[in-house]
Amino acid sequence: MAENNVNVVAEETIAKYERYVNPSLARLFRYMGLATVEHSARGSTVTDFKGDEYLDLLGGYGMYGVGHSHPRVMQAVKAQLDLMAMPTKILLNKPMADLAELLAEVTPGDLTYSFFCNSGTEAVEAAIKLAKVATGKQGIVSTVGAFHGLSLGALSATGREMFREPFKPLLNGFGHVPFGDALAVEGAITKDTAAVIVEPIQGEGGVVVPPHGYLTALREICDRKGVLLIVDEVQTAMGRTGKMFAVEHEGVVPDILCLAKALGGGVMPIGAIVARPHVWQSFIDAPFLHASTFGGNPMACAAAIAAIRVTQEENLCENATVMGDRILGALKSMQVRYPGILAEVRGQGLIIGLDFTNAGYAGYAISELVNNKILAAYTLNNPKVIRIEPPLVITAAEVERAISVWENIITSAVELAEDL
Ligand SMILES: Cc1ncc(COP(=O)(O)O)c(C=O)c1O
Repeated sequence: MAENNVNVVAEETIAKYERYVNPSLARLFRYMGLATVEHSARGSTVTDFKGDEYLDLLGGYGMYGVGHSHPRVMQAVKAQLDLMAMPTKILLNKPMADLAELLAEVTPGDLTYSFFCNSGTEAVEAAIKLAKVATGKQGIVSTVGAFHGLSLGALSATGREMFREPFKPLLNGFGHVPFGDALAVEGAITKDTAAVIVEPIQGEGGVVVPPHGYLTALREICDRKGVLLIVDEVQTAMGRTGKMFAVEHEGVVPDILCLAKALGGGVMPIGAIVARPHVWQSFIDAPFLHASTFGGNPMACAAAIAAIRVTQEENLCENATVMGDRILGALKSMQVRYPGILAEVRGQGLIIGLDFTNAGYAGYAISELVNNKILAAYTLNNPKVIRIEPPLVITAAEVERAISVWENIITSAVELAEDL
């Protein structure tokens, strides 16, 4: 496209955001130097309308496990599109049955039954409803800093006041305890508690990794107290942490597992809960108690099946571990050298957070990354933390390029600080 046309596309798109989407969102994009328009994407590379290529270190907030436009996922979706895009809802749907079987196979323990929806927040809604109906109790123990979604039920579990305050009162019976502290969870459980809900790593909370043994301790407490354990793996599943599901690092089987984001292979939106048989009985007794028109549609299920197969067959868990260790090691060495800029670097596999000593440095780093044609963003609940969540197909060469750009950015931030 000619340069003039390209600039017109960018200006018109921003103007439409300003007029028809949200003016402050448009301002924010401009401010972060992101005044460009995405056009196409493959693997870990996003191309804008100008033809400029960006290395995607954000990965759509964890959506691009198998990368952008993975050919096998695209092929599966196109083949299904030619047959039937959406379900009748009255006849049986083979892709949904196949995906449910595959999830029962790949998820740990006796997680068996699946319900499909279209997003992470819907998966959490389904989990909360199932926990309530399965136990006949109302209480949910969640954690401070948690992000479980922004619809009203999930928001009640989300642990950041900024998102919650304007919508209060939220659902009754939700309490929040410090993340990583199993004893605090135990202390918060009452006779009316239906479930504990937790992320294996708090993603939006700032990539907060709990002490090893946390999930094991929660499992033991929940069993002892007769309370369900819901693990929200919307962000951590599908190989992100180096295992297909992060709970596998501790060999823990939740009662209800929440999935979304990367499950759709970066091509289709899909969310799911997978539950153990003893929890599912109330949905068996009343199969229309919870439902979704688009949930489990054949195109989304075809995408998810392909995404799971690609994750397994292209060894993406291993790649997440190897590439994640390399990035984590390099960034930790920068943190040791520049503690005035970087407070902490943490993560597991390819979910990594850089915790800056103040939000100003994080903002500077994001705009410098964009200048260097790398995409990254803050975590929603913590603006001091930049997340690194690239597609799990990221190559060693792409990782080395990212590390050398990070090195330059951190050293220039040091110089900037000295000049102030
Ligand atoms: C752990 C977790 N749960 C739920 C959600 C909500 O997912 P969605 O944005 O698809 O509704 C997110 C989104 O970031 C998440 O990270």
